[in-house]
Amino acid sequence: MSKVQQALAPDEIQSAQRRLDFSLLRRLWKYIRPYRRAAGVTLLLTLAAGGLNVTLPLMAKRIIDVEIARGNMTGVVHMSLLYLTVIVLAVGLDVAFNYLSAWVGQHAMHDLRLDLYRHVLGQDVVYFDRNPVGRIITRLTSDVGTLNELFATGVVSTTGDMLVLLGVVGLMLYHSLYLSMVLLLVIPIMVPAISIFRRYSRRWYLETRRHLATLNAYLQENLAGIRTVQAFNREGRNFAQFRLLNRDYREANIKTILAFAMFFPVMSLVSSGAVAGVIWVGGGQIIAGRLSGAPTLTFGELFLFIQCMQMLFSPIRTLTEKINLLQSATASSERIFKLLDTRPAIMPPVDPVPVPPLREAVRFEHVDFAYVEGEPVLRDVSFDIPRGQTIAVVGATGAGKSTLINLMTRFYDVGGGRILLDGVDLRRFDPGELRRMFAVVLQEVFLFSGTIAENLRLANPSLSDAQLWDILRQVNAHDFVAGLPGGLRAKVTERGGTFSTGQKQLLAFARALAADPQVLVLDEATANIDTETEQRIQAAIRRMLAGRTGLVIAHRLSTIQRADRILVMHRGRVRESGTHEELLQLDGLYRRLFELQYRQPPAGEVQPAGTLGGRPEP
Ligand SMILES: Nc1ncnc2c1ncn2[C@@H]1O[C@H](COP(=O)(O)OP(=O)(O)O)[C@@H](O)[C@H]1O
Ligand SMILES: [Mg+2]
Repeated sequence: MSKVQQALAPDEIQSAQRRLDFSLLRRLWKYIRPYRRAAGVTLLLTLAAGGLNVTLPLMAKRIIDVEIARGNMTGVVHMSLLYLTVIVLAVGLDVAFNYLSAWVGQHAMHDLRLDLYRHVLGQDVVYFDRNPVGRIITRLTSDVGTLNELFATGVVSTTGDMLVLLGVVGLMLYHSLYLSMVLLLVIPIMVPAISIFRRYSRRWYLETRRHLATLNAYLQENLAGIRTVQAFNREGRNFAQFRLLNRDYREANIKTILAFAMFFPVMSLVSSGAVAGVIWVGGGQIIAGRLSGAPTLTFGELFLFIQCMQMLFSPIRTLTEKINLLQSATASSERIFKLLDTRPAIMPPVDPVPVPPLREAVRFEHVDFAYVEGEPVLRDVSFDIPRGQTIAVVGATGAGKSTLINLMTRFYDVGGGRILLDGVDLRRFDPGELRRMFAVVLQEVFLFSGTIAENLRLANPSLSDAQLWDILRQVNAHDFVAGLPGGLRAKVTERGGTFSTGQKQLLAFARALAADPQVLVLDEATANIDTETEQRIQAAIRRMLAGRTGLVIAHRLSTIQRADRILVMHRGRVRESGTHEELLQLDGLYRRLFELQYRQPPAGEVQPAGTLGGRPEP
């Protein structure tokens, strides 16, 4: 599956259609709760602003029917000033409301992001095998952002809108039942218009989101792999592909915009039509009342009615938008909570045993394992890593060598058999504490952006500069680091992009030593390294392993020869085991591997930079 396809989880579209239900709200409340006082104030603010707004039509009616009708200029001036004051007050409340609701939303989201990230950090590697990075980032950023909108503009201000709606409808019914009937006629036009709009805007909105996700995933993958893109001269084709994705995104956006472009004018057409109808009917009523001498409607009431209608349409319109917002927020919160509900398969035991210093051995006992059910990767693997000894593992790519490391450090759990530490099953330890026993140098060295010193102090921030230099000396990286501008303070870019593979590996060795592990685990890289660096690395490995307990996936002859025992893995099984000489004598798999890699012409010569076991099977 490509990243592009993975960018949208299948549940993403599906759950977007669901309604906000009570259990989701209850979980969201947990994040609002610490700020409930401020949230309460925002509710009061929006209710107060709504209440003030509802008094406006009443004041206007009074100005017209009482002050103007009586020719009372002072009254007109006073009432107008009051009217203005109320508007200014309402605006002030609105400003305070906008600020405070955003404040509550931002704080709640800040906490939610912390929870999410803490949770993601605790997931086991199986989770990361299944979820592309892009999707996890989306949960923490854009999904949380959507929820924030829900707080900032959604739930609370809707309460204010509802108050205005109810107040205004009440005023209309109270002042003229007859004119309210006219309004009823508009509803059969408005309701279907709104529901059609909602259906299409929703569909197109989702479409836009999907296209954007695809576009992002495409960019992410191809920018991360820019060197490969350029090395294979793929820029042109790449661009053409991007052009297509970009076009799809544009079209989806334009459709969404079209829906909005039509909706609002159509709505205002309907509402203006309704106003015209009310003026028509109401005007007729006023004239008829005058002629008959028994007025049923005043000018003020007609004005109140028209003003109410205008106030009515605006909340209806925003409520429509908010229903959409609510839907996407529901979808987002479902995805967020699904992530929060993902329990890692590897959990600390209820009563963990403290990890003791290694006395005897790490032991694999009849270990079976499969990453994917039905595709066994390790079969009945048994061996010991006695304390103070180095065990080397050789075998073709895919034989299951790195998997041994994954199981020993409990990134995955064994399928069958057990791994024991001085006779105690690994699963009885706290995984975090267990991992502190090991320092693992993986095939692919991952350096973080920052400085060299920060990278070396990963496991132990309290190491002094002198200690770091000492460690660097042990791995032969001393002069290389000293030669960098800034030395230990030299900048490391993301993933250590400015260092050579060999340099990165030396730094990784130093980082592992800095952790002062009980067991050193090396997954030696097969990278092409110049002879000088190769010799440095060999010497570094030799020194690191001296007197230490080590498991080394070995490609370098020097490491292999020096190992106390060599395991030869083939298709998930340990097929041979013994010292270099013993295995050569055995004249089996090891001898074949050895001759393939080392005894090629000129015969009899050992190539120092040679590798063993890192190549695919012929
Ligand atoms: N995370 C994973 N998910 C599924 N299969 C995996 C995973 N990692 C490795 N494998 C598979 O397990 C087998 C052994 O892999 P590995 O232990 O990395 O081999 P080696 O280190 O000997 O080259 C390979 O077939 C590989 O494709
Ligand atoms: Mg490997």
